[in-house]
Amino acid sequence: MAPLSRASAGKLRLGVLISGRGSNLQALIDATRISTFPAEIVLVISNRADAQGLMRAEDVGIPTLVIPHAKFPDRESFDDTLDAALTKAEVELVCLAGFMRLLTPGFAERWRDRLINIHPSLLPAFKGLRPHRDAIAAGVRVSGCTVHYVRPEMDSGPIIVQAAVPVEDGDDEATLAGRILAAEHAAYPLAVRLIAEGRVSVIGDKARIDGGTITPGAVMLNPAE
Ligand code: GRF
Repeated sequence: MAPLSRASAGKLRLGVLISGRGSNLQALIDATRISTFPAEIVLVISNRADAQGLMRAEDVGIPTLVIPHAKFPDRESFDDTLDAALTKAEVELVCLAGFMRLLTPGFAERWRDRLINIHPSLLPAFKGLRPHRDAIAAGVRVSGCTVHYVRPEMDSGPIIVQAAVPVEDGDDEATLAGRILAAEHAAYPLAVRLIAEGRVSVIGDKARIDGGTITPGAVMLNPAE
């Protein structure tokens, strides 16, 4: 598939893949409901029929599809069905938002630089399924989230946006996850907007952001004194 080019004026067509709660999907829905946001969600796919996120999409009239992974003999045939549904809906960018299935290298390659994920740690730290637990166990004082392009190796690929939050003494997985989740809900729409505005290019294994600004002098100390 050709690399994503944003020369065209239309809204970027998003497909969002979920497995559960869908709070990041909700953040994207909320962003796309602002008329000036340069992307729209054209399809939400879940591998689970009971995913709460499906209702979030249905509530605002976004088409949904359930593709139950258990009905497929192997990952390849599941991913082929995903791919066909995304292609049919003319999806240009696939957003993984709590999608709890490993995608095959073939799918990741086919959607290379058109497939992004959000992970609740400052990658490359704390890859895997329990990043909050691992961050607390390591005693880090700052953690956060990462939006990145997907590569075949889990939780790797060019980093588009990161957001940092403090880790507090006494945090457990739930309190840290809640603080990071609030950051995720800001980071994911920002990453999508930057891509939709044509401001993200992938050079080698890094993403470059055109015209990205930083908060001048922003330093987060933890503890602050
Ligand atoms: C988020 O923490 C996301 O970073 C991770 O899975 C969780 C999904 O939460 N990949 P939600 O379904 O978006 O609420």
